[in-house]
Amino acid sequence: MKIRLAASSGFCFGVRRAIQMALEARENGDEVCTLGELIHNPPIVQELRDKGIEVCPSAESIQNKVVVIRSHGIGKQELETLQQGGNRIIDATCPYVKRAQEIVSSMADYPVLILGDANHPEVMGMLSYGNEQTRVVQEDTDLSEERWQKLCVVSQTTQRLDSLQNLVRKLLPQTLELRVFNTICLATTQRQDAALALAKAADLMIVIGGRNSANTRMLQQLCSAQTRSVQIETEAELSAELFDNVKFVGITAGASTPAEMILKVYNKIKEINRDADTATCSEEIPLFKEESC
Ligand code: F3S
Repeated sequence: MKIRLAASSGFCFGVRRAIQMALEARENGDEVCTLGELIHNPPIVQELRDKGIEVCPSAESIQNKVVVIRSHGIGKQELETLQQGGNRIIDATCPYVKRAQEIVSSMADYPVLILGDANHPEVMGMLSYGNEQTRVVQEDTDLSEERWQKLCVVSQTTQRLDSLQNLVRKLLPQTLELRVFNTICLATTQRQDAALALAKAADLMIVIGGRNSANTRMLQQLCSAQTRSVQIETEAELSAELFDNVKFVGITAGASTPAEMILKVYNKIKEINRDADTATCSEEIPLFKEESC
């Protein structure tokens, strides 16, 4: 059975940076907490807890502490509450998310549409920087009855580029001035393109990442439109039946999945298939190149 890892997968720069900032703060001996889970990956959140980095549920509950703001950012009001609570703030908001927040904030004269999931903290944070005409839409939201003199469109960083393109195509005939900011992050696009290419060739895709991770869910959605696809958080969820009649397994992982977890999953698949040729580090896992299929 052939096993290949998507050419781009796993930890992105924003997540790596946030974890590093939290660990450095803790190493200084400070009492550190994060507002909400630092990243959407339960095993990593537990590891951070074990190292003394607590998860606090709300800004109101945090007073006089060192608070790390997670990579997908927080809302303007939450930030103010943290500041008023006498906390020292370590802002690990990913620069891509920060840029999207700044764009929304700078477009005060425009109605702003944010393409994304209204319940996702990143989008809720972006929304808080907007005006009363800022709102969240999906690619298929019916906007056909609306007309605008001027309009601005931005996107959640983990959306598909074609979703943004479809939305813009729809809106263009309805506006005199349309300002579009591509706020989809490069890491997301690279991971989605690599997963899609692999899913087209594989009989089975294993998508690793937190079930609450938007970018992992998006990978799962893309892969399952091409081939049989299973989303898991850890290698413990793999069973032998999954691989019945499978000749080519593809692996991909969301932006909050560490290399060690990808390695464990790869080796577990090998073990299930009674293949002793396991890898000792993630760099040893063969990557998928399109010509290899
Ligand atoms: Fe940042 Fe993109 Fe990662 S927005 S946190 S680099 S998925």
